[in-house]
Amino acid sequence: MSASAEMPYFIKPSVNLTATEKVTAYEEAIAAITANLAGEEDRTLKMVTINCLLKTYLPYFYWVGFYLVSGPERLSVGPYQGTLGCLHIAFGRGVCGKAAQTEETQLVPDTHALAQGSEHIACDPNSRSEIVVPVFDPQGALIAVFDVDSTLEASFDEIDQRYLERLLRDVFGTK
Ligand code: SME
Repeated sequence: MSASAEMPYFIKPSVNLTATEKVTAYEEAIAAITANLAGEEDRTLKMVTINCLLKTYLPYFYWVGFYLVSGPERLSVGPYQGTLGCLHIAFGRGVCGKAAQTEETQLVPDTHALAQGSEHIACDPNSRSEIVVPVFDPQGALIAVFDVDSTLEASFDEIDQRYLERLLRDVFGTK
């Protein structure tokens, strides 16, 4: 089944936030995540909780989820909320593949400006901007990338980068 340009009835178009609104939303979301994950060690439960609560508090999170390192130089889709995600992505392909290869956060203000199929993989044509953050285990090994897409251009900035990098480090990078 291929991804459709039509949004399913349960998926809403994104709404951008001002910087102040963003900070408030992240503070509330992270407080809720921290409370719900207190004492939790299961990686899958951490991922589903992060997806659910960030998508609840941040109205521009159209697609949110993890691509897991599933083999040498390969990612496979893991826990996510949103429209159908591509199943496998090679390191170096698309924004997720670049984040995995470089182990650095990727901020993309306009996905349509990227070369389709190589620089960007359009699982859903409604995705217009995105951020992808690498996720490491306590030993510093890459275990996944965290991908968030918005239906609007330029939804993500340094505020998203700062909060998401810190959250993912706190949840997955420490014992
Ligand atoms: N946008 C990603 C592909 C994954 S989907 O957006 C869910 C990319 O180009 O890496």
